[in-house]
Amino acid sequence: MKIHVLTLFPDLFQNFLQEGTVGIAVKQGIIAVETVNIRDFTHDRHRTADDYPYGGGAGMVMKPEPLFEAIQSVKADTPAPVVYLTPQGRLLNQKIMTEYSGMKSIILLCGHYKEIDQRIRDTLIDDELSIGDYVLSGGEIPAMVLIDGIARLQDGVLNDIDSALTDSHQQGILGCPHYTRPAEFMGKKVPSVLLSGNHQKIEAWRREKALELTRKNRPDLLKNSDE
Ligand code: ADE
Repeated sequence: MKIHVLTLFPDLFQNFLQEGTVGIAVKQGIIAVETVNIRDFTHDRHRTADDYPYGGGAGMVMKPEPLFEAIQSVKADTPAPVVYLTPQGRLLNQKIMTEYSGMKSIILLCGHYKEIDQRIRDTLIDDELSIGDYVLSGGEIPAMVLIDGIARLQDGVLNDIDSALTDSHQQGILGCPHYTRPAEFMGKKVPSVLLSGNHQKIEAWRREKALELTRKNRPDLLKNSDE
């Protein structure tokens, strides 16, 4: 899968793309991420990518021309959906992540300042995604969130795909608690059912604990489910 990232800060992605699960996906050639510096598509001496908002007000707006050229330069070789990361977008979730993980290529646009010129949104953006109801200084970290979530869903990236399928959110509810050795730590024992070898009982316990946690921390997830 090919992921193009249009950003004013391409260096932010360097370490991110070399480490952990994303690093494995890149090294194995399962995903290829190419950063494009939006500033390379400015044509003035100061490489200006933003300007004052029409109508006044605080903050700067990303200019349309460099964004237009940057997007077109990528689209010329790769017909792919353009996804703009913005707090005004649809709220990202595991279902959306899974949909994008199945695509051949995507183009991620990281905004900065006070949004981008609306005409780019109206004409060139196919989807707008937010990673949560808070505002970050730019779309780079949200783009990394999306890349990480997509990378780990690719075939061959995780040793055990069952592990991804039992994650929180993959089944619409939170995951269950997990334990590893030692069997006793600081006086606290691993629940005996997990040592019982009875897989049916273990599954039932995990399901109950997952529901308990979901009821406590994310009751909203249960509203639209059959639980
Ligand atoms: N850019 C700034 N804040 C953001 C958010 N919460 N989600 C996506 N992009 C953003």
